[in-house]
Amino acid sequence: MKLNDDEKAMADGRDGPAVQRAMDLLMRYGQALGAERLVDTNNVCGTVSATTPFMRDFALSKGGMDAVFSEFNLDSDDVVEIPPVKTFTSHLQLGFDPAHAEMMGVSEDVVKFYRKGEGYIAGHGIQLMNTCTPYQVGNIPTRGEHCAWMESSAVVYCNSVLGARTNTEGRESTGAASLTGKIPYWGYHMPENRLGTHLIELDVEVTSTSDWGLLGYFIGEQVQDKVPVVHGLTDVPNLARLKHFGAAAASSGGVEMYHLVGTTPEALTREQAFGRNRVVETLRYGEAERRRAYEQLNHTADDHDVDYVMLGCPHYTIEQIWEAARLIQGRKVHANSALWIFTPRAIKALADQNGYTKIIEDAGGVILSDSCSAMSRAAPKGTKVVALDSAKQAHYLPAILGVQAWYGSTAECIDAACTGRWAGRYA
Ligand code: F3S
Repeated sequence: MKLNDDEKAMADGRDGPAVQRAMDLLMRYGQALGAERLVDTNNVCGTVSATTPFMRDFALSKGGMDAVFSEFNLDSDDVVEIPPVKTFTSHLQLGFDPAHAEMMGVSEDVVKFYRKGEGYIAGHGIQLMNTCTPYQVGNIPTRGEHCAWMESSAVVYCNSVLGARTNTEGRESTGAASLTGKIPYWGYHMPENRLGTHLIELDVEVTSTSDWGLLGYFIGEQVQDKVPVVHGLTDVPNLARLKHFGAAAASSGGVEMYHLVGTTPEALTREQAFGRNRVVETLRYGEAERRRAYEQLNHTADDHDVDYVMLGCPHYTIEQIWEAARLIQGRKVHANSALWIFTPRAIKALADQNGYTKIIEDAGGVILSDSCSAMSRAAPKGTKVVALDSAKQAHYLPAILGVQAWYGSTAECIDAACTGRWAGRYA
């Protein structure tokens, strides 16, 4: 791989051993990918934290968070001192919400260690956004900006909606990128790989958030890791809908980039979306396809008694919290059920300020931050049946927690929380 003078100097140790190891990692990684060079980035989203008993014990036995960073972010055999990050770096979601640790089954020891770790992370210049939706809380890269992001739902949003450029990175490559400001130039950094491959013609209107989840789920399953181009939209989707759509497509398949003709920034026209690519396949999405996606997402469920309603995958927007508060105001969560809503800390602060947290708590629900049930593997004790308004969570949670999952609209989920029964149906 070709390095410029600055990269060579970092690789030769000019900026100290941690940066040297970061460069070594990026060169090994880039070579394995066939990248010919690195590209500058000033926007990294990754994870540094130690939120499991294993990580805490590792850190304590090896000398602290520098050991965690050396081993898990730099793949270094020895522990090196970690300097502050060089690039703007945001922290993604974690293994639990420290403000609701007990509820999530996390021990006090792990929380105490995590709190110390927060100091380490902030002290190294990393933004404690603690969310899978950094684009909601201040990290909004611009069109064409080269990024190094982890988290599939964030990556697909970054590429498709914002028109910024990232591959789905890992803990190691984002750690190395944060110290060097470099990432291998390959995949979705290159304009030619961002062009559409599959055309999706809509034969039905796609309007509600749950419709968008179904469409994403269908497309991901059909195109896997290719670049779908959706044609025939009648409505302009908002942030929540695009967030759900991308997360669903990245779950049933590995979609990291899509185009919505007339909506997303690299697809003002169908011709622009495909560029010089020929259409590999044209797929139609009509009533039958939508119903099939709905049935697939609900295939684990059969018991209508709902123990747990989880909202906020990907983390809820303030608009979604407002909607949930309006739906539940004046009602009560059923004695046999529970309602947990996940959102970034910054949005939770806004929900507190606007009075939505109080409305939801008065009804018996809880707003959590930093994590989700799939990440934390946590649900209210004894949960067997879950109701969800997220195709992504409905895809993963049955396998992660061994539960049945119902998928439907936010209103159906709130009804399930308040009645303890699932009454949702395909609309
Ligand atoms: Fe976020 Fe958890 Fe969903 S981390 S995208 S809420 S699986």
